[in-house]
Amino acid sequence: MNWGNLPASMDPQDLAEVGCVMTAVTLGRRGLLRFAGLLSGAVAAGASGWVLATPVAAEADAAASETIANLSLNENPWGPSPRAQQAMLRNIASNHRYAGAETQALIRKIAELENVSPDTIVLAPGSSPLLRILGDQFATDLPGGELITATATFEVLFRAFAARGGDVVHVPLDDQLRFDLDAMASRIGSRTAGIYVCNPNNPTGTALSVDALRAFATEAARTAPVFIDEAYVDMMDDWPRSSCMDLARAGHDVVICRTLSKLHGLAGARIGFAVMRKERADRVRAAARSGGLPRMGVVAALASLDDEAFVTEARQRLRAGRLALERVVAEAGLEYAHGSQANYVYVNTGMPNERFVGLMAEQNVLVVRRSFQGYDNWNRICVGTDAEIEHCRRALARVLAA
Ligand SMILES: Cc1ncc(COP(=O)(O)O)c(C=O)c1O
Repeated sequence: MNWGNLPASMDPQDLAEVGCVMTAVTLGRRGLLRFAGLLSGAVAAGASGWVLATPVAAEADAAASETIANLSLNENPWGPSPRAQQAMLRNIASNHRYAGAETQALIRKIAELENVSPDTIVLAPGSSPLLRILGDQFATDLPGGELITATATFEVLFRAFAARGGDVVHVPLDDQLRFDLDAMASRIGSRTAGIYVCNPNNPTGTALSVDALRAFATEAARTAPVFIDEAYVDMMDDWPRSSCMDLARAGHDVVICRTLSKLHGLAGARIGFAVMRKERADRVRAAARSGGLPRMGVVAALASLDDEAFVTEARQRLRAGRLALERVVAEAGLEYAHGSQANYVYVNTGMPNERFVGLMAEQNVLVVRRSFQGYDNWNRICVGTDAEIEHCRRALARVLAA
């Protein structure tokens, strides 16, 4: 594996977020080999923690978690739904075919589930390309315009906007580390080219009252398109009430973006979608057209969206995990963003993030390497399996005592 020669198509943001650089830099050669061995063992055993897992697989999972806890990338640590796994296995031999008919079926499925018109849906390999395209288009539609968002939040859309020469207005989070909607509303004006809200927010996990967000977005969309990133919305306690999909359904100039990478455990299969006005959807679809979607992702998404039992259990497990993680950081005496509704907790570690990442890696716990603007001493720690959270608890105690 040549870590010095990563694919040119991946930008540094992706690399940091997917942890390639972090893994290579912090684990060293021996750690990497051990990590790779554990991963291949887990895959060979079909380890997932869900129904498909065998007792042997469960043991492999536990052993892996004891050795390396990967709490860095907001994934579902138990893997995809058994139905999604079976769908991928069934389709392996057809992987030489593009996923045309299946993609149409996925659009129909999402249209039915969300009660929206199929021509308002745009699919992409993960939601990241949609964030990039809309960031691009917001900037080119209003040259010299401003994008209003918070700091700290997920950067893909506002970075794409800035790369096209747009000005990004970073409104600070409120004292509970939530988007400050009043402060954002006060910045909206004739130069506003777009508004980005992430609910629940990455990295803080904090969520807005859906009624407040709905009122804000309805009003703001009269001036400029409002992008609501709902990557984690299906993990929220009051799902499905937590979603603002009804605004897109009603035809407001609002983009609702979701991903199957998180709760559905399909980060490696790459399926995201967004719902928006038809005219905007046509333009985004034209920009996104690039050979279609991965067949494995499409068939897995179709199966997973139908697997209500899996989705409900995943939400419960992730909720229990984040409460356990909150207890760990509270017991360690650390300040953190309370009330996360996602699968991570944002923690003030009291030291520069680079140092924290290095010390945790020495304890074989992987946490996200990059820092978010304005929060140099904070780290976003993700929900893992019970064994990984216990591993994290012991590692934190050692790191804080160092
Ligand atoms: C808020 C948010 N939006 C979008 C994404 C993109 O995820 P994907 O491209 O896997 O759909 C992420 C990934 O971490 C995220 O945190």
